[in-house]
Amino acid sequence: MFQSKIIGVGHHVPEKIITNDDLSKLMDTDDKWIQERSGIQERRWIRGEKGSTARMATDAAKMAMERAGVTTDDIDAIVFSTLSSDYYFPGSGVLLQRALDMGTKPAIDIRAQCSGFIYALSVADQFIKSGMYKRILVASSETQNISLDMTTRGRAMAVLFGDGAGAVILEQTTEEGKGILSTHLHSQGEYAEVLCMKEPGTGHDTLFYPEILENVDNIYPYMEGKLVFKNAVTRMPEVLMEALQKNNLTIDDIDLLLPHQANLRISQMVQRILKLPDDRVYNNIQKYGNTTSATIPIMMSELWEQGKMGAGKLHALVAFGSGFTWASALIRW
Ligand code: UT7
Repeated sequence: MFQSKIIGVGHHVPEKIITNDDLSKLMDTDDKWIQERSGIQERRWIRGEKGSTARMATDAAKMAMERAGVTTDDIDAIVFSTLSSDYYFPGSGVLLQRALDMGTKPAIDIRAQCSGFIYALSVADQFIKSGMYKRILVASSETQNISLDMTTRGRAMAVLFGDGAGAVILEQTTEEGKGILSTHLHSQGEYAEVLCMKEPGTGHDTLFYPEILENVDNIYPYMEGKLVFKNAVTRMPEVLMEALQKNNLTIDDIDLLLPHQANLRISQMVQRILKLPDDRVYNNIQKYGNTTSATIPIMMSELWEQGKMGAGKLHALVAFGSGFTWASALIRW
């Protein structure tokens, strides 16, 4: 019976730091509101840098491979997750594959927004468990700042998001009880329009029809924040408990919870519901904002740097986002 374990983690964030004070020069907002409502102090923007979703993923992937001690020759496939792909089509997976000079190896694109990394990890895990592939590069990367309405009209969304990428290398193992113990995925399309960006879409006769710019709810990301918040704090503990039950584990077994970084208040509420102490929950939204599917691998890469992936440690990943989609994964290092 095969399992997959993570042998390397990397990340990349743009150099440009945008503070809350910087945003207050663009729109009617302030540091106090942003910090009180979301915990965010600053985020990174790729704007002005030579970069894109696939480029950030390339840097993250190189770091992950270096830390894993492998080269692209050792990797059998790419699973790439983003909601902000470089092109309408093809997906960014093949752009990463080209940048890494990976010949004709397959690249699969996943669209599950904030849950994208766990969805991608789950897909890669199944390929490894089935024996089809031995090593897979899973990458998540997001370019958010260019799609946001950077005026007072868009302030509720604009202050929350940042750019960045994370990547992991999964490898086949036969060591039982090690690596990815399980993944649990859910979605509820009933709520698709509660957090979405509709245009350019296929609901019209042409992608770019003359009136496209008239409805700002369609051309910029739209969110019913309170409804998303309420569902996030319910679904995240729920899907984590599902994972623990499946593995005959309890909350006490978790060494570290890595919640998707949508809002520090969401993470704190999930932490309270699960009755976890501060030192068993990792947050970094203060520095990066919400980088959608990249938040979890960026956190993992920081923890790798800090040497916190000690053998035997149990890490729990949990995410919720647009779709709605939500997911969890348990990893035994
Ligand atoms: O990863 C994707 C999933 N996303 C999430 O999980 C986000 C979930 N939702 C949230 O985190 C919160 O709903 C927000 C942080 C987005 C908003 O917090 P809220 O407490 O729900 O605020 P609100 O939208 O109800 O707005 C409260 C007030 C409004 O003013 P009035 O109507 O009370 O006068 C807003 O216009 O705050 C105003 N406001 C702002 N003020 C200053 C909204 N955005 C801003 C801003 N700066 N950036």
